Amino acid sequence: MLEVGQLRALYGDSQVLHGIDLTISRGQRVAVIGRNGAGKSTLLKSIMGGGPSAHGVLQLDGADLRRLKGFERTRLGLSLVPEDRRIFPHLTVVENLEIARHATARGTTPASPEAMIGFFPMLEALKTRFGNQLSGGQQQLLAVARGLLPMPKLLLLDEPTEGLAPIIVEEMAKSINAICAQHGVALLLSEQNLWFARQCTNSLYVLDTGRIVFSGSWDEFDASPEVRNRHLAL
Ligand SMILES: Nc1ncnc2c1ncn2[C@@H]1O[C@H](COP(=O)(O)OP(=O)(O)OP(=O)(O)O)[C@@H](O)[C@H]1O
Ligand SMILES: [Mg+2]
Repeated sequence: MLEVGQLRALYGDSQVLHGIDLTISRGQRVAVIGRNGAGKSTLLKSIMGGGPSAHGVLQLDGADLRRLKGFERTRLGLSLVPEDRRIFPHLTVVENLEIARHATARGTTPASPEAMIGFFPMLEALKTRFGNQLSGGQQQLLAVARGLLPMPKLLLLDEPTEGLAPIIVEEMAKSINAICAQHGVALLLSEQNLWFARQCTNSLYVLDTGRIVFSGSWDEFDASPEVRNRHLAL
């Protein structure tokens, strides 16, 4: 489904990704982990478009993403929940969800806001609140729910747990797992929270200064403590 080959990404003439190879098949859930500045967000932004200039192979079901604008990538079934969430402050929780219907791929039926709230029970009591009345954690839950409402083929999720209370992190993992499993949504998750990444995915890539230094299952990762010590420890 997603094919990334020898991907290089640059901001101006500063190169951040140095030849990334990565594939995701239908419904597969994969984490990208790495320190601050490793290039995780740059990888997600390169796939979604907007931001860095990307070179190399970038395909979704054979379509060359590099030729397509962001909204056209959305129509093919990509959805990005960016680092900065972008919740609309003057829309309610339900309205923030409603608006994501427009990001539904051709031939796909989006979920209703009610159905999404069913997956994220913490949002139930907040339905009529405005975006700017939500806590940071509530906004993050809403951003993830909004990213999933169109039932994308592939959800790109950028560090959704940053700064969240443990109870919200747990709820988010449960919700994401339930939706992805029921609807066959594939996931590319950028994370530094290893517990959460492990709950939500089956395999992982470790990124260090723009290069993939490990890929495998979580069991293989556990059997390679040197990866953790060398590329993830502060
Ligand atoms: N808009 C930009 N212009 C120039 N350089 C950038 C830009 N955005 C990111 N960078 C640089 O690219 C590198 C990778 O950044 P990126 O945001 O992809 O890392 P990250 O792994 O997502 O980090 P974090 O965990 O802190 O979010 C960093 O050195 C960063 O300074
Ligand atoms: Mg980032």
